Amino acid sequence: MNKREFFRRRKRLMDLMGDESVAIIPTSPVHIRNRDVEFPHRPDSDFFYLSGYPEPEAVLVLVPDRHHGEFVLFCRERDEKMETWNGRRSGLEGACDIYGANDAFPIEDMDDILPGMLEDRERIYYTMGNDSGFDQRVLGWVNQVRKQARTGINAPDEFVSLNHLLHEMRLFKSRSEITLMKKAAKISCHAHKRAMKVCKPGMMEYQIEAELLHEFMRHGCRSAAYPSIVGSGENGCILHYTENNSEMNDGELLLIDAGAELEGYASDITRTFPVNGEYSKEQKQIYELVLEANEKAIKKVRPGNHWNDPHDVAVEILTEGMVSLGILKGTVKSNIKNESYKKYFMHRTGHWLGMDVHDVGDYKLDGEWRKLEPGMVTTIEPGLYFQPQNGLQKKWWNIGVRIEDDVLVTKEGNEVFSHDAPKTVDEIQALMATAKVA
Ligand code: GLY
Ligand code: MN
Ligand code: MN
Repeated sequence: MNKREFFRRRKRLMDLMGDESVAIIPTSPVHIRNRDVEFPHRPDSDFFYLSGYPEPEAVLVLVPDRHHGEFVLFCRERDEKMETWNGRRSGLEGACDIYGANDAFPIEDMDDILPGMLEDRERIYYTMGNDSGFDQRVLGWVNQVRKQARTGINAPDEFVSLNHLLHEMRLFKSRSEITLMKKAAKISCHAHKRAMKVCKPGMMEYQIEAELLHEFMRHGCRSAAYPSIVGSGENGCILHYTENNSEMNDGELLLIDAGAELEGYASDITRTFPVNGEYSKEQKQIYELVLEANEKAIKKVRPGNHWNDPHDVAVEILTEGMVSLGILKGTVKSNIKNESYKKYFMHRTGHWLGMDVHDVGDYKLDGEWRKLEPGMVTTIEPGLYFQPQNGLQKKWWNIGVRIEDDVLVTKEGNEVFSHDAPKTVDEIQALMATAKVA
């Protein structure tokens, strides 16, 4: 992502915020894994979207029309000793030269400097509730300015969440964001194919996870966008299963929900295939039903359709299928009306995708499902999950299938980013068979 794009984003946001306002956006805190060990730092998506600044302990302040520059970064200073122990820092100079800040100050000096930036501003754009310690500091700064009222300085008296303006911007992807997301999805497809090729009964799920990560990293993605789900047999019926520590058995399905993150952008792809390379009769029946729902839902992704249209069609197809296979009793209509399909399809058909895997952006406007528009990216991910339970014939037990693609709304309709990962029964079986011969 080039510097110009970050500049354009800040400019656009400040135009929307208006003069007389100020925005305060901290990056995510450092999280401790255990004792002296930290989790790798992942910048807050709002912060990164506006700055591209990757280091921890930083706060971005946007001050429209500020005489000394509108983009201010509080960040870590260079420190030879700390850098020798813990890694390089770009310092105050780097904040300006590399990331385009107009002004940079040491993060330690924020309590002294930031209140001055709030003087005579009417509104503070700041999202409360993410970090109560930081919320208190922001209130403290405002109170500090209020105390100067008698000297004629006005303190802001309006707090506005940044979410509305900023998340609406993030919902619509630019050309360079689309390029990154396509690339992330392509890399994830390589990983799914690799998993199909190496998978065999007797392996552990985490061995497949290792293959996925290998493929992500080998293509330049330093991390998965979320912990990979590698669930075989009954584990495939647990929606967010991440233990990945079971042995995979002959005759089971393997559900893999895994996506690489590239320069802060996520992909989110699920494929479900047989551990031994061949779907059983029942596995194939359910798989093809979910595939039909996936394909028909993708067709509904086009401008002018409502956000909920892909979900409605997925519900219809899955319910019809379950009725005709005898899994649901009664009519299609009654099962949809009383939502009995939810026992086996309990999640929604998709979510926005972007810097966050469950990305920001409203799904409804004024109480109505919003319309799809070019530049939005959604997942399409119908699924069916049959845990052993009352009334269900044994032949369906432990079949868990989800098929998830990443789909861009275009002017003409849509573009599927994740088409390189095979998804028909024939394609998958053929790929797995070739791999076994080789
Ligand atoms: N990987 C989480 C999801 O598919 O929503
Ligand atoms: Mn998803
Ligand atoms: Mn997923």
